[in-house]
Amino acid sequence: MEKVAVVTGTSSGIGFETALALARDGYYTYATMRDAAKGDKLKELAKKENLKIDVLELDVDDENSAKISMKHILDQKQRIDVLVNNAGWALWGCVEDVSVDEFKTQFETNFFSIIRLIQEVGPTMRNQGSGTIVNISSVVGRIGFPASPAYISSKFALEGLSESLRFELAPFGVNVVIIEPGVIKTNFMKNMKMGKKSELDTVYKDITTKVVSGVKMMAEMGTPPKEVANVIVRAIKDKNPLPRYIVGNDAAMFLEAKKNKTDIEFENYLKKELY
Ligand SMILES: NC(=O)c1ccc[n+]([C@@H]2O[C@H](COP(=O)([O-])OP(=O)(O)OC[C@H]3O[C@@H](n4cnc5c(N)ncnc54)[C@H](OP(=O)(O)O)[C@@H]3O)[C@@H](O)[C@H]2O)c1
Repeated sequence: MEKVAVVTGTSSGIGFETALALARDGYYTYATMRDAAKGDKLKELAKKENLKIDVLELDVDDENSAKISMKHILDQKQRIDVLVNNAGWALWGCVEDVSVDEFKTQFETNFFSIIRLIQEVGPTMRNQGSGTIVNISSVVGRIGFPASPAYISSKFALEGLSESLRFELAPFGVNVVIIEPGVIKTNFMKNMKMGKKSELDTVYKDITTKVVSGVKMMAEMGTPPKEVANVIVRAIKDKNPLPRYIVGNDAAMFLEAKKNKTDIEFENYLKKELY
């Protein structure tokens, strides 16, 4: 039976590579993106390699778009085996420099949109008695540091959601996995946004500038997104998928340190590593 995968945010980076990796693994893959005009490269590769990739418009922030695209897929295929919730972006700026409305826009894409899509595909996967939901979190889904609290808390929220969902869907044969990449070389830091107030001369200007430029430098030497895609395919194929898959030596190092240190020791370690 043909297996069907849906990936969000496939115009670049991790989503692009994941759509390709799943199609190369034999999945009929719906590569969704909010601007289908950005799908030319994927379409070209699909044609060249004879892959089953369908580029489909989906703005995950838009409830209507989510409903229409999922209905389209289910009308065509009557099943969804894999949903990769990948679309995301980062909002930078310290808590006092980011408005609540700005926090909400960050949570809309990185958190609420995922609930929406899970609610759309959940009934289908439960009726099938199989399926895997892959949520792209981050190493910062388990580690907090200054200057990106909106992004970090959206990923912490996603980790909590995913842990709960594992219990809820397991009885129906549906798996949920969390992917925790470290710094990956994608358009992520180009697509980032700054909180409006954080661009002014506030007391947090120095720390924000330091952390953002540090992460930008790390991104230049980041792990290739293909490695994340390969881990996602492996996780989906695991007989009993683990709750979490870490990608990148940086992520592994930080999470190992967090496991082996007290909270205060870990804070001091992070201060030394980050600024
Ligand atoms: N790069 C890293 O260091 C890193 C580390 C850990 C986790 N992550 C996570 O990995 C995921 C993918 O990021 P990436 O590194 O591959 O960055 P990227 O190259 O910037 O890709 C982000 C993708 O998300 C899409 N997107 C953003 N908002 C959307 C919306 N409302 N609807 C549909 N698509 C939307 C973007 O589409 P447009 O082209 O239309 O903007 C783009 O396709 C994100 O969830 C990110 O938080 C990244």
